[in-house]
Amino acid sequence: MTLSLRQMTPSLGAEITGVDVANLDNQEFDAIYDSFNQHSVVVIRDQNITPEQHADFSRRFGKLMVHVLKDDLLEGQPEIYRLSNKIENGVPQGRPNAGQYWHSDLTYEEVPSKGSVMYAMEVPDAGGDTLFAHTAASYDALSEPMKSFLSDKTAIHDFRHAYETFSKRIPGTMPISEEVFAARPPVEHPVIRIHPETQRQCLFVNPGFTVRIKELSYDESDAILGYLYGHMVKPQFFYRHNWRANDLVLWDNRSLMHCAVGDYGSEKTRHMHRTTIMDSDAKK
Ligand code: SIN
Repeated sequence: MTLSLRQMTPSLGAEITGVDVANLDNQEFDAIYDSFNQHSVVVIRDQNITPEQHADFSRRFGKLMVHVLKDDLLEGQPEIYRLSNKIENGVPQGRPNAGQYWHSDLTYEEVPSKGSVMYAMEVPDAGGDTLFAHTAASYDALSEPMKSFLSDKTAIHDFRHAYETFSKRIPGTMPISEEVFAARPPVEHPVIRIHPETQRQCLFVNPGFTVRIKELSYDESDAILGYLYGHMVKPQFFYRHNWRANDLVLWDNRSLMHCAVGDYGSEKTRHMHRTTIMDSDAKK
């Protein structure tokens, strides 16, 4: 097999074919790793992997994080978070409607995430795409006064925010207990973060988990965040992934936010496994 790479858009996205992630040599892994840093979304087609191989491949990027929603983890493989609307013998096979709002994974954690690796096992014949928006490209396009204004600001992130603001309004969403929310109290991160590997500055706020900018009044924070969210999803910063079964997609949570599109209804199955890699460079 020969690795081949096709860039998807000028800002982000690359498609890789001709590799088997369960049997990568160092050169192939280095090419994937470079592409992850350079293109932020890497789509690796035609993978047939077990949950263990999925976790092993993900671990080559860094330490894996365990999602706070314990009921949605794969039994025996807790690094795998199941996103699924599939029900087998009356038992849900994962969290339905997960991530249907703009966010970066796990920004509500004290140590946030470096990236995620999602494996598509069953996908609808149409719909269920994932949208990605590049937060370094959108930062670069800001004016110098706006960059300077944001440079010393801090944002508060809270896991509860996404549930209260978005998820619980979607029919079929499973409730989340107070115990789970209590396990993830709000945290603070800089509004602008420097990507440790590309050295690019990235906007690090998202509608899902960012509650407010701490140094501003609530009204001022709403206005600035509202402006930024509109700016960050301009089409030129954007890639839309249309999933095929057996796609393995890696994305960089340091330089992206993403949103799952919930347009396929309950008759169509969308069944995915995701790992989340810790951003050890962000350790406080
Ligand atoms: C997520 O990881 O937030 C969900 C992405 C998706 O299901 O497309």
